[in-house]
Amino acid sequence: MSAPWLAERAAATRAAGLHRSPVARDTGDDLIDLASNDYLGLSRHPGVLAAAHAALDAYGAGATGSRLVTGTTRAHIDFEDDLADFLGFEAALVFSSGYLANVGAVTALVGRGDLIVSDRGTHASLIDGCRLSRARVVIVERGDVAAVSRALAEREEARALVVTDTVYSIDGAAAPVAGYYAAARAHDAVLLADEAHALGVRGPGGRGIVAESGLAGAPGLVVTTVASKSLGAQGGIVLGGTLLRDHLIDHARTFIFDTGLTPVAVGAAHAALRLLRSDPSLPDRLRRGARRLAASCGAPPPHAAVVSLAVGDPVVAVRAAACARRRGVLVGCFRPPSVPEGTSRLRLTVRADLDDATLDHVAAVVDESLREAGAPSPEAAR
Ligand SMILES: Cc1ncc(COP(=O)(O)O)c(C=O)c1O
Repeated sequence: MSAPWLAERAAATRAAGLHRSPVARDTGDDLIDLASNDYLGLSRHPGVLAAAHAALDAYGAGATGSRLVTGTTRAHIDFEDDLADFLGFEAALVFSSGYLANVGAVTALVGRGDLIVSDRGTHASLIDGCRLSRARVVIVERGDVAAVSRALAEREEARALVVTDTVYSIDGAAAPVAGYYAAARAHDAVLLADEAHALGVRGPGGRGIVAESGLAGAPGLVVTTVASKSLGAQGGIVLGGTLLRDHLIDHARTFIFDTGLTPVAVGAAHAALRLLRSDPSLPDRLRRGARRLAASCGAPPPHAAVVSLAVGDPVVAVRAAACARRRGVLVGCFRPPSVPEGTSRLRLTVRADLDDATLDHVAAVVDESLREAGAPSPEAAR
């Protein structure tokens, strides 16, 4: 395709320091990874790999069809049952990604003539679900419980949904989940809470912020989460009551019109869940590591596994990430549109399998890289 506007757009994107290109990982890479979301380091755990191989042998390379045709295997049902039991909900439903779980859940719960109150920090998949739903959307500032209450109280719509991440993906801060739930209940609305960055990280045994807030299985609460982060695999899950599960099966378009999650990923995710269940100290190790790294980098104490270093200028952030890579450390670099203008940042994700010496080495590398790139000190950038 050759259209002049594409070239103009590409030039403008580059000039703003916002051009992106996927960097291929290779098996010979010897980088210390603080960019992935493999929080518990389970993506290459021998037990997880063995389960993935077993599912591959049992069911083949793909799901072969949508969940409602041939894409549901025994492995999907067993994983759903086990995850629902672990997180304290009546039922769970697996989608082929966390993105599709969010889009499917929001669009199946509200539509034209309804209201969504969305926290400004929610992930793009929830934002896209809100847009696709055709409901009226009110956006409130991050964590603003009073604004949620106000929007719900002032509405004319009968049905309303509040959506939020429980741990914001950008900087790992925690949302006021209990406050949002109370506001939703007081105004006859449903709360959808995305635990993607909290599963395996926060709460008792890694059960997330919803469990930590005493809300597991609570009425009027829908939880979404992913198998692609602490479970080291792939896939998205919606949790709630059996009525909700049945409703999603009938109405969530991203469930109905999508090939089911590959059984290989289901097998891997289920094995990772069993490992998390059998070793509740994993999330503690992860959070301890995150606190240590944040302290050494001069970042605020983290709420979860993400250590976020504000840089500001996207060009400087990219330069700093490249310097760190040259020194053997892979870090995330977030720029607009993933973050608001002027808040580009390095995003370091800690893993439970990184020891103290490695974390201290990472902190030293990041410090040198930020200085070499000309970034302000973390205190100045905050
Ligand atoms: C908060 C949040 N929700 C949902 C998703 C989407 O999950 P997935 O990557 O499994 O599609 C992400 C992924 O980055 C996320 O950070």
